[in-house]
Amino acid sequence: MSTQKSYCVIGQPIAHSRSPRLHNGWFKKYKISAHYDKIEVSPKALGSFMKLFAEKYAGANVTIPHKEKILQYLDGISTEAKIIGAINTIVNHEGKLWGHNTDMFGALAALKEVGLTSLKNKKVLVMGAGGAARAIVYGLSTQGAIVVIANRTLSKAKKLAKEFGAEWCGYDLVGVFPMDIIINASSVGLNDTQATNIFYFKSTIEDWDRKPVVMDIIYTPKYTKLLRDARAAGCKIITGDKMFVAQAQEAFKLFTGIRPHA
Ligand code: ATR
Repeated sequence: MSTQKSYCVIGQPIAHSRSPRLHNGWFKKYKISAHYDKIEVSPKALGSFMKLFAEKYAGANVTIPHKEKILQYLDGISTEAKIIGAINTIVNHEGKLWGHNTDMFGALAALKEVGLTSLKNKKVLVMGAGGAARAIVYGLSTQGAIVVIANRTLSKAKKLAKEFGAEWCGYDLVGVFPMDIIINASSVGLNDTQATNIFYFKSTIEDWDRKPVVMDIIYTPKYTKLLRDARAAGCKIITGDKMFVAQAQEAFKLFTGIRPHA
């Protein structure tokens, strides 16, 4: 019988995911007998997929659109995941499934990489109010940042803002108050098919005296329209792969006990 452990990332769409390449590379590097696949799981199929999960997999990452819905299939969740209300990592511990959220660590690590070690009183605009945004807003709130959430569906922005003591607004009001940091935590820009921004970014930022640091959580493409415009407007940018690699390092540590070097 093979002793090789199986891991996977589940989501829809999943074709763009670079998680298998990263984790399989680390398994090889650290000589761990394990394999990591990507599996397209639709919201409808999630329940039946999770029925067989504990038998087949030692762990998984979870992405759009399952980060919140998956909670009902787990046996327990970490404190952070509980507060965030979303998970991105599952560890199978002797048949019991534990949920964790490493997105928050990933986002804070990405900001630290460009020298933003202290976020206290920094004004941060978070665009989006889904699972990824929840993790980021919580992470920022633990660091004393002043957070404004903008979202297409205003009720979701309002709800999230209320939970974490943040402000909220629609995309039409973004730009009224200059920010220190802007983070796209929505799925706008993924695969860049429409090459749109949520708000007319470039002309807004060009009016600000102090240029914000702009970060995107989308990593396909690496330079999203938002980041291209931010760079053209003179902002420092943080590409989505920074957060992606940092959250994966934290997940790999949960899977194996080893913190991998990127
Ligand atoms: P994730 O788990 O990655 O956060 P999600 O929970 O499905 O995924 O959230 C996706 C986010 O992208 C939401 O904030 C969504 O806005 P709504 O709450 O209004 O749906 C945002 N989003 C997706 N497509 C969008 C679009 N075309 N324009 C603006 N926002 C969009």
